[in-house]
Amino acid sequence: MPDTTLDSRKAGPADRIDGAVHDSRRHDSAHKHVSGEAVYIDDISEPAGLLHVCLGLSDRAHARIRSIDLAKVRAAPGVVRVFAAADVPGHNDIGCNHLGDEPLFATDLVQHVGQPVFAVAAETRDQARRAARLAVIDYEELAPVLDYETAKAGGVLVTTPMTLKRGDAKAAITAAKHRVDARMRIGGQEHFYLESQIALALPGEDGDVTIHSSTQHPSEVQHIVASVLDVPDGAVTVEIRRMGGGFGGKETQANLFAATVALVAKATGRAAKLRPDRDDDMMITGKRHDFEVDYSVGFDADGRIEGVEMLLAARCGWSADLSGPVTDRALFHADNAYYYPAVQLTSMPLKTNTQSNTAFRGFGGPQGVLAGERLIEEVAFAVGKDPLEIRKLNFYGTDDRNVTPYHQTVEDNIVHGLVEELERDSDYWARRAEIRAWNKASRFLKRGLALTPVKFGISFTFSAYNQAGALVHVYKDGSIHLNHGGTEMGQGLYIKVAQVVAEEFQVDIGRVHITATTTGKVPNTSATAASSGADLNGMAAQSAARTIKERLVAFAAERWRVAPDRVVFRRNAVQIGDQEVPFAELVRTAYFGRVQLSAAGFYKTPKIHWDRAAGRGRPFYYFAYGAAVSEVTVDTLTGEYRLDRVDILHDCGQSLNPAIDKGQVEGGFVQGAGWLTMEELWWDAKGRLRTHAPSTYKIPVASDRPKIFNVKLADTQNREDTIYRSKAVGEPPLMLGTSVLHALSDAVASVAGHTICPRLDPPATPEKVLDAIDRLRATAGGTL
Ligand code: MTE
Ligand code: MOS
Repeated sequence: MPDTTLDSRKAGPADRIDGAVHDSRRHDSAHKHVSGEAVYIDDISEPAGLLHVCLGLSDRAHARIRSIDLAKVRAAPGVVRVFAAADVPGHNDIGCNHLGDEPLFATDLVQHVGQPVFAVAAETRDQARRAARLAVIDYEELAPVLDYETAKAGGVLVTTPMTLKRGDAKAAITAAKHRVDARMRIGGQEHFYLESQIALALPGEDGDVTIHSSTQHPSEVQHIVASVLDVPDGAVTVEIRRMGGGFGGKETQANLFAATVALVAKATGRAAKLRPDRDDDMMITGKRHDFEVDYSVGFDADGRIEGVEMLLAARCGWSADLSGPVTDRALFHADNAYYYPAVQLTSMPLKTNTQSNTAFRGFGGPQGVLAGERLIEEVAFAVGKDPLEIRKLNFYGTDDRNVTPYHQTVEDNIVHGLVEELERDSDYWARRAEIRAWNKASRFLKRGLALTPVKFGISFTFSAYNQAGALVHVYKDGSIHLNHGGTEMGQGLYIKVAQVVAEEFQVDIGRVHITATTTGKVPNTSATAASSGADLNGMAAQSAARTIKERLVAFAAERWRVAPDRVVFRRNAVQIGDQEVPFAELVRTAYFGRVQLSAAGFYKTPKIHWDRAAGRGRPFYYFAYGAAVSEVTVDTLTGEYRLDRVDILHDCGQSLNPAIDKGQVEGGFVQGAGWLTMEELWWDAKGRLRTHAPSTYKIPVASDRPKIFNVKLADTQNREDTIYRSKAVGEPPLMLGTSVLHALSDAVASVAGHTICPRLDPPATPEKVLDAIDRLRATAGGTL
């Protein structure tokens, strides 16, 4: 087919469509988000007869259930029906792996505080909540596995570990001039999506059910609901217009809520809704995995790394969920942007009696990056150089020193240029000198500065997930209906894909109608995750639009008797030979000519393959890069600190929508900085999560943003043939937050004259910062 696209970038202002690809455009729902008009599931008008559902939760971390007495629950005011494991008609399992390790309702064993044991459906939400408390459950308590020591000693894993290996790491470390062996802990993170988990089920005819689920993965919810109800997937439709944030927390964890309401709706013939309150949501659902990393690094006198060995243990919680791929991704990113000549990385996905940890922006990658960056710090302190020098010394090369621990060659390395540009723009070295001098003169306040890079692999490591579908209809009046398998969680996927379709047809974006994601229109979709939403669905939608466009071109060429290459789509019109026909008119004429004006599109990512057992392949289509410089001031008397300035340079390739991408970069950075500084999860000795509400779990607020915040998108092109040469942006910027942790570490290090690596483990709360200061002062012997 001739290229009949008029690329908007080449069009003059008058010819340029509204909402073209690469244009900065606000989120399609931005005005509704701020006015409160955006409809989330809890805003959908409640159907008559709606039942409200509440889950009854285990208050033991690990116990055998001797008996469950739900008589009082049943008898409570307003209660219509109560459900436990025996009431599940199909499989009592909601796990994404079909391992049978994640019962919807506990049977004879509970494995964490907050595990659902039963559900109660009542006329009102308040009645359901009150009734749920009346259960009498007799437990025989078992010893819970909560900490690393116990978990490692017990050695129970939720899934098979992975090893990545090249060369003889042990020998290289032993042979190196210097070595450091140490351990770091990395905290977990609560997703804190503003809209909590929620599902609404509507019973239909012939046993069908429609579920509105706040999920990143409608096809999986559909499948799980069908398996719980013992009906075919085809009897279940799952729809989601938007989530109030997901951040990975709704990739699998929505299954529970959807399956519960489906069960209630099916059994009672009434609509059912379940919206846990924030505390319940936090007690029930999994979080970012916390990690304990044992590392050994060998390096030469200049600080060049020669060998790396790491054991990355994670507390996965009580079931496998996504812990396999999450701990794998930690390994894939433990190199961050650095070349390890000899390396051995091993994961240890530990089973613990806590919530089942899950996907969270970066999917284990950030924990790997932190471990890699800790190595850099260790080396820098050992050889007495600025960490930035050590970073640059160890960056992947462009022609050599460019093979990763998983044997994928880094073909698109742009980290050198990116970091140089940021170094210059942020005035790194002048500020470094100024801060050193300032610190010497300041007794109690100490400032710190750090530049950290990010290199993040794009693609699902589970290769089958790298596919997407879309459905495009053009109506007789020239308006366009757009649907695809990706979900909207605030990240701006819908507007980006709409821009692609507008661009393809060269019509103003106002003609493209964005519609809710539903399993009824595009089947067998992948989770909207791994930052690949626009890469995959953008391509699928483009392919659907192209199919329709090809039909229109062929029709116009025949009807107007011109060569197909003389049919050119221009702004809201089509140039056919010497005439210009409005788009709507061509469409209407084509309809009368019996041209099919609807098409499904499909895309699968090329080039990727992965052999997990061998630890070899090309798991990633390409890499996204970024770098950040953070500056902090620490009060060494209290450990409190302030984020003074942040400069970011981030690579989105040729951004589909720079305004949206900038928002992703800012939001990702703040979420990453929050994780590494103030967000602290805390379980007591009985395994009860004591930080289960905003009163005890502190997330960043507007006043925590950097006082100076310079964010720039790098002018880059994706080397690979992605949608308009853009790059995925959802997760990588989270890891830019690493620079805040390292800036804090730099400030702390100043109390011991930068001679001791502070080993400041995240979250670097003021208490931890103060501890590190005390530790360094004590080690330095009070001489400084
Ligand atoms: N941005 C907002 N506003 N809300 C979210 O929930 N999730 C993040 C990221 N950005 C998220 C977000 C995560 S975890 C991923 S994987 C990507 O968006 C998913 O969307 P994408 O693939 O379309 O980038
Ligand atoms: Mo994102 S953690 O891949 O949902």
